[in-house]
Amino acid sequence: MTQRLSGLGGSCVDVREVRAFVRDVLAKVAERVDLDDVDVMTSEVVTNAVRYSRSGKPGGGVYVSIKSAADRARVEVLDDGGGSSFPRIPEATGDSPESGRGLLLVEGLSERWGYEIAEPSSRRVTVWFEVGR
Ligand SMILES: Nc1ncnc2c1ncn2[C@@H]1O[C@H](COP(=O)(O)OP(=O)(O)OP(=O)(O)O)[C@@H](O)[C@H]1O
Ligand SMILES: [Mg+2]
Repeated sequence: MTQRLSGLGGSCVDVREVRAFVRDVLAKVAERVDLDDVDVMTSEVVTNAVRYSRSGKPGGGVYVSIKSAADRARVEVLDDGGGSSFPRIPEATGDSPESGRGLLLVEGLSERWGYEIAEPSSRRVTVWFEVGR
């Protein structure tokens, strides 16, 4: 299923709302998936959409797609584009950086993750992750 989630009355998308939406959908089907891990990854990916794309501007939102079975799930988040970067995991530097941890967390908690440039002209990006086998 795919759904657009965006703010009401000219506000931007609410990360907590997206997290709760994904959790509710998965709770019904994905009984053997760690929903706390999914919460963390959804938060990181949607926070990035808000921070680095027009999803964080007034009226901005994300399209969330969820595919699930009892023991696995795939979540895709399409942002509103217009950013000046694309997702990337920063080079390891040895010290512990204060930022650049979001996608590292996703890499650590997911079975697989990745991103696609959904629309080069508008720089819209889909970031996806999978949990379970
Ligand atoms: N949806 C996106 N659109 C454009 N750029 C993105 C998007 N998501 C991530 N990025 C880029 O990838 C970089 C790494 O993201 P990551 O979440 O790992 O770190 P961060 O957001 O910089 O810091 P933190 O998540 O620890 O607060 C970001 O700094 C940003 O440049
Ligand atoms: Mg981040």
